[in-house]
Amino acid sequence: MRLKEKIAIVTGGGSGFGRGICEAYAREGAHVVVADINQASAEETARLIGKPAIAVSCDVARKQDVTGLINTTTGHFGGLDIVVNNAGITHKNQSALDVSEDEFDRIFAVNVKSIYLMTLATVPELEKRGGGVIINTASTAGVRPRPGLTWYNGSKGAAVILTKSLAAELASKNIRVNAINPVIGETGLLEDFMGCPDTPENRAQFTGGIPLGRMSRPTDIANTAVFLADPASEFITGVAIEVDGGRCI
Ligand SMILES: NC(=O)c1ccc[n+]([C@@H]2O[C@H](COP(=O)([O-])OP(=O)(O)OC[C@H]3O[C@@H](n4cnc5c(N)ncnc54)[C@H](O)[C@@H]3O)[C@@H](O)[C@H]2O)c1
Repeated sequence: MRLKEKIAIVTGGGSGFGRGICEAYAREGAHVVVADINQASAEETARLIGKPAIAVSCDVARKQDVTGLINTTTGHFGGLDIVVNNAGITHKNQSALDVSEDEFDRIFAVNVKSIYLMTLATVPELEKRGGGVIINTASTAGVRPRPGLTWYNGSKGAAVILTKSLAAELASKNIRVNAINPVIGETGLLEDFMGCPDTPENRAQFTGGIPLGRMSRPTDIANTAVFLADPASEFITGVAIEVDGGRCI
C-alpha cells in the first residue's frame, strides 16, 4: 500500500475524477475525506469506499466551509497529509462574449479562490506533520487553450501558475505542490466542455485531436494523483503533469 495511514482531503470527491481519486487513495491505504458541495454524492463516494472515508459537505469557495472541512478532518483523523484541490466548474463551450459576469465570478471563486482558501487553511496542518502534499486538478485548457472556454481556460492557467509559485514558496516547509492537467474526460462536465450533446459523432470530433485516441478517465487521473502523493515522487514539485493521451504535444 503506497499511502498507508496517510490522511487525505479530496475536494469534488463526489463524482468524476474526484471520486476516482478517493477510491484509489482508499485502496492504497489512506484515510479519505470526501469533500463536495453536493452532500449526497460525497456520501455516496464515502459509502462506496467504506470505513476509512468520511463525507463532508463543503463549498470550497466559502471560507467558513473550508475552515469547517479542516476542523472536521483533524478532529476525526487527527491530522492531514495530502490535499487534492479537485473541485471545479466551467461555463458552457460558447463565445467568450456570452458568459455572464456572475458565471465568471463563480468560476474564479470555485477554481481559483478555493486554492487560496485551502492553502491558508491546510498549510499549518501539513506543517504540524513535518510536510505534506498538495495536488491541484488544473487542465490542459490552462496550457493549451482552445476557443469556447476562454474564462474557464484562464482559471486553469491561474491554477497552474499558483501551483508553481506555491511549490517554490512551500518547499522550505517540505510541502510539495503539483498539478494534474487532464484532457477532456468522461465526467459530469463533458457536455459543457463539448458544447453539444454527448453523441458518438460529437465525441469523435474531440478524440480526433488526442493521439492516443480516447478521452481521459477517472482512473487515469487517479493513478497520477497516487503517484504525486506517494514518496516515489518525493523530488517532484511545481510540475503540471499532462494526462492527455498526447493532446498537448
Ligand atoms: N472532465 C474534464 O473534461 C476535465 C478536464 C480537465 C480538467 N477537469 C477538472 O477536473 C476537476 C473535476 O471535474 P470532473 O470533470 O470530475 O467534473 P464533475 O462535475 O464530475 O466533478 C466535479 C465535482 O466538484 C463538485 N463541486 C463543484 N463545485 C464545488 C464547490 N464549490 N465546492 C465543492 N465541490 C464542488 C461537484 O459537485 C462535483 O462532484 C475540475 O477541477 C475540472 O475543472 C475536468
